[in-house]
Amino acid sequence: GSGHELVVVANRLPVDARTLPDGATEWVTSPGGLVTAMESVMRTVDSGAWVGWAGSPGEAPEPFEADGMALYPVALEKDDVEKYYEGFSNATLWPLYHDVIVDPVFHRTWWDSYVATNRRFAKAAAPVASRGGVVWVHDYQLQLVPEMIRSARPDVRIGFFNHIPFPPVELFSQLPKRNQILRGLLGSDVVGFQRESDALNFLASVRKLLGYQVEGHVITVPGIGSAPAREVVAKTFPISIDSKAVSALTEEPDVIERTAQLRRDLGNPKKIVLGVDRLDYTKGIRHRLKAWQELLNDGSVDPSETVMIQVATPSRERVEAYKQLRDEVELTVGRINGDFAPIGRPAVSYQHRSFDRRDMTALFMAADVVLVTALRDGMNLVAKEYVASRPDLRGVLVLSEFAGAADELRAAVLVNPHDIDGLKSATLRALAMPEEDQEEAMRSLRRQVMDHDVQAWAHSFLEELEQAGQPQDSGP
Ligand code: G6P
Repeated sequence: GSGHELVVVANRLPVDARTLPDGATEWVTSPGGLVTAMESVMRTVDSGAWVGWAGSPGEAPEPFEADGMALYPVALEKDDVEKYYEGFSNATLWPLYHDVIVDPVFHRTWWDSYVATNRRFAKAAAPVASRGGVVWVHDYQLQLVPEMIRSARPDVRIGFFNHIPFPPVELFSQLPKRNQILRGLLGSDVVGFQRESDALNFLASVRKLLGYQVEGHVITVPGIGSAPAREVVAKTFPISIDSKAVSALTEEPDVIERTAQLRRDLGNPKKIVLGVDRLDYTKGIRHRLKAWQELLNDGSVDPSETVMIQVATPSRERVEAYKQLRDEVELTVGRINGDFAPIGRPAVSYQHRSFDRRDMTALFMAADVVLVTALRDGMNLVAKEYVASRPDLRGVLVLSEFAGAADELRAAVLVNPHDIDGLKSATLRALAMPEEDQEEAMRSLRRQVMDHDVQAWAHSFLEELEQAGQPQDSGP
């Protein structure tokens, strides 16, 4: 038949179009956990399509094929980028959904652009799905799309997955358009969340703000006019990575060589501590650097023996809070290096750019300790990537209890990143951990990560959608 059986709708396509100085277009992998996860899922799907933005303002490229998948670019004009993407998505929703670590900004014109842009995504996606197919909408940028697609395509099953936290009802209630957002999401048959607490927050908001009936994880959306009442399931599906593919990379000769080269480049330090994050205020990079600075300052860490690498992938660079964060992080790194770096070698090697999969794996293989100190994070796939990169059972993961991954990765050294003393002592414990203890913890972490990979995650979500979306028997 015509159309695609599975259509993914996300703000970004898995690849970003970059214009080179000579005017040619280059495609590079888009940043973030959503793309990491969904790209692996879509590689195993026949007849899949992905609807999304190519990452720069202006006209959209024509639809094209990549990795056996059809890509349908959606255009965002400069004004939409400012109001829908940088504004409502990343200066209103993002901070509000992440515990208001910075103050959310509310502007009515941003909301108007959010509605119009969501409609544009829905319009692009609706004709692409096959009859009775599945449309799977992703993340906070597109919360109105499920309802919009439902009204155009009542024959398809609609799933929504929220990659970031869903806030407690007290915070969600601050959102001027909160009820419209909930109704948009409830256009889905299944709404998926990372942690049980996120699903419960959503269910509580639906009950309190819309007054709909909620039983366990099932919401009854009342019928309007001739449309019958519908049931919507809101459940937890913790996302993961392509664990086997990551683990397999560690055996490739060039990755092994890159790992050795990395250690040599850093002057063969005794220990390497690693942080890998998008440069985002939710990631706790400032807290991590503060703890590290104090450890160097009080002499607990010797910079001639131990090096920190901080990869900070550029992100949302025109949004004010991100500009400020970058300035603060770079000031602190400069100070630490000025005060403590031996000549010819950094105390903190700061990398403001993205790395490809193979280089990332080499970094994880070289790291004795990985610090994940997020103040709030939907899941955090870096934690899972580190574990998948250590079939040798070496290395220690220090993990914030505020990352979704902490629900599953219980054998990590769990920390509260707001507690700088606690973070310092956890880091020292990780650096000093005997090999037998590293092995025991890593073995337990690997059982979790290798058994629960992203394919299993997608499978359980789509299975739930298949059951939930069964057309209701309309009676005699
Ligand atoms: C997080 C979000 C994604 C987003 C990614 C990168 O992973 O959950 O929806 O795509 O960050 O952010 P960006 O704004 O660059 O797309």
